[in-house]
Amino acid sequence: MCGIAGYVGDKDAQGVLLKSLSRMEYRGYDSAGIAVIEDRRMFVAKKKGKLKVLADELCPNQIKGTTGIGHSRWATHGVPSDANAHPHCDCKGKIAVVHNGIIENYLELKSSLKREGHKFISETDTEVIAHLIEKFYSGDITEAVRKAIKLLHGSYAIAVIHKDEQGKIVGARLDSPLIVGLGKGENFIASDVPAILDYTHKVIYLDNNDVVTITKDSVAIQNITGRIIHRKPSVIKWNISQAEKCGYKHFMLKEIFEQGDVVEKIIDERIRDGRVEFDELKIKESDFRRIKNITIVACGTAYHAGLTGKYVIEEHAKIPCTVDTSSEFRYRNPVVTKDTLVIIVSQSGETADSLAALREAKRRGCVVLAICNVLGSSIAREANGVIYTHAGPEIAVASTKAYTAQLAIFYLVTFYIARIRKTVSPSGLKALIREFKKCAALMNELLGEYRSGYNMLAAYAQEFKKYYHLKHNKSYFLYLARNVNYPNALEGALKLKEISYISAEGYPAGEMKHGPIALIDENPWVVCIAVKSKTYDKMLSNIQEIKARGGIMIVIVTEGDKEIMHHNVNYVIEIPSVEELFSPLLVVIPLQLLAYYVALEFGYDIDQPRNLAKSVTVE
Ligand code: M6R
Repeated sequence: MCGIAGYVGDKDAQGVLLKSLSRMEYRGYDSAGIAVIEDRRMFVAKKKGKLKVLADELCPNQIKGTTGIGHSRWATHGVPSDANAHPHCDCKGKIAVVHNGIIENYLELKSSLKREGHKFISETDTEVIAHLIEKFYSGDITEAVRKAIKLLHGSYAIAVIHKDEQGKIVGARLDSPLIVGLGKGENFIASDVPAILDYTHKVIYLDNNDVVTITKDSVAIQNITGRIIHRKPSVIKWNISQAEKCGYKHFMLKEIFEQGDVVEKIIDERIRDGRVEFDELKIKESDFRRIKNITIVACGTAYHAGLTGKYVIEEHAKIPCTVDTSSEFRYRNPVVTKDTLVIIVSQSGETADSLAALREAKRRGCVVLAICNVLGSSIAREANGVIYTHAGPEIAVASTKAYTAQLAIFYLVTFYIARIRKTVSPSGLKALIREFKKCAALMNELLGEYRSGYNMLAAYAQEFKKYYHLKHNKSYFLYLARNVNYPNALEGALKLKEISYISAEGYPAGEMKHGPIALIDENPWVVCIAVKSKTYDKMLSNIQEIKARGGIMIVIVTEGDKEIMHHNVNYVIEIPSVEELFSPLLVVIPLQLLAYYVALEFGYDIDQPRNLAKSVTVE
C-alpha cells in the first residue's frame, strides 16, 4: 500500500526520497510525490504513475533542499491522479503532508474546514490533515500536528513539514506503521524498513499516538497529550542485498528459490538437541497446557498457512482448532475465551484486519500468539507472544517464502505443544523432527532441479497460453486436493489469479460432486494434487471423473508413482517422497512456479500485480 519517506540532513533530499520510495515500490502504488523545502520555500512535485514519471518530471529542475518528505500512493479516496497524489498542502502552500491510512471522518472535517474558508483541491481524505494543521499552526509545527490528530478518526501514519521550520519533520501514527531511521548528522522517517536501509540500520519503531519531531541531530518523541516518551532503538539485521533481485528476473522467483534455505534456517534456529525451543516466546508453557482450543486468524496466503496448521495441530497436538479469516473474525461474535489460544499469522504484521482481530481476541481474554515475519511490526508487538519466521524481506506482492516459513513454524509449534501436553511420545517426536528435517533438505533438492534442469513448468505455461487463446480466452484453472494439501489447492489458485489475472479456484476434491464438477468441460485446466497419502485412491477417482468430462489435467504425484500412467492425464509433476503431513512444503513449489511462469508468458508485472498491495494496512 502507500509508502512514506522523509529525510533531514545535509544530502539533497530529492535524491534520498526518490531512492527511499524506489525501495518501497514493491508495496504497490499508483502515483508518487515529494515535497522539499529549499531556502524557506516549499517545492512540491507529484505525478500519477510509476516513480520514473516523477523522476523524469524532476530531472531538469533538481530541488536543492535538504529537508523533505515523499510518498507512493495506493488510491483509496479519489482516483489515481496528479491532484490526488501526495504530498497535500494547506491553503497557502506552507505545509506539506503525506499520509498512509484512512481518515474515516474526513467528510465531516472537510465540510467544517470549508465553512471556515479552507480551499480543497483534491478528492482525498488526506488533504483535511494539511488544512487542520494550518488551522492550528501558530509557529510550532509539532504542536499543530498534535492538535490536528486529536480530531482524526481512522488510521494514519503521517509526515509533515512546514516551510518556515526548515530542518524539521514531524511524524505521527495510529494503526499504521511509522519508523524513524537514525543516521549520523541525518535522520529519516519511513513507513517501511527497506526505505531507509541504504542509509542506516538503526531504527525506532513508533507506537500508536506517538508524535515525533526529527531534525538532523535530534529525535524527540511525545504522546498525543505532549508527554515526553522514550523509545529504544533497534538494529535491523537484514542487509539491502536481501531486498535486491540478485540476478533473478523477479523478486517472486528469487523468493521461491530461497524457500529451502529459509526452512532449513528455521530448523537450525529452533531445534536444539532434538527439542523445539522458541527463545522469544513470552507465553508460558502452563498456558499451552491449559488451553482447550485454538483459533487461527489470518488473511490471504497466511490464512492458507493457518488452514494447514489446523491439520497439523489436530493430528499431533490433539487440540480442536478452527481457522478464520481476520475480516470475518473481527466482526462476528466468535466463541473464544481465556481458554482459547488465538494464533494470528501475518507476514507483514501490519494487516489491518488481522491487527483488529488480534485486539478483539485480547479483549475477549484469549492468549494471543503471533506468527510474523517483520520484526517489530504492530501484530508482533501487541500479541502476548511472537514467533518470528525470519524469512528475510519478502518483496514480491505474491507471498511465497513467507508461506513456507509459516508452515514450518506450524510444524514446530505443533511439536512444541505435543511435547508439553504429551500427546506424542518422545520417540514419536524424534521421528517427526527427523522427517521434517528430511523434508527441508528435499525442498532444496527439488528447487535445485528446477533451477538447473529443464523447467517443465515453464513449458506447461506456454502450452496453457496457446490453449487459452485457442479457447477464446475461456480457459481457467481449478485446483483440487484433499486433506493437508487442500490449503495448497487454495494457495495455488490464489498465486495464479493474483499475478496472471486468470480465474482460478481451489476446492477440496471431495466437494467436486457437490457443485464444481458442473464447470468441467474442455475449458479448464485442472491441477490435481495426488501425492502419496491416505486419500490417494480417492484422488484417482476424481481424476477419472474430470478426465471423462474433458478437463486438461496437471497432476502432482510422488516420485516413482507408476499408477498415474494408467490414467491418461496430460501432464505429471513429481515431488520427492515424504510423509504426507510434510508434503505441503514440497507440493507448493511447483504450484508457485506454475503461477509464476503463466504470468511471465502473459507478460504481466509479476512483482507488482495490478490492484494489489504488499501489506493491506487499511480495511
Ligand atoms: O502480511 P500478511 O501476511 O498479513 O498479508 C496477508 C495477505 O494480504 C497476503 O498473504 C496476500 O494474500 C498475498 N498477496 C498473497 O500472495
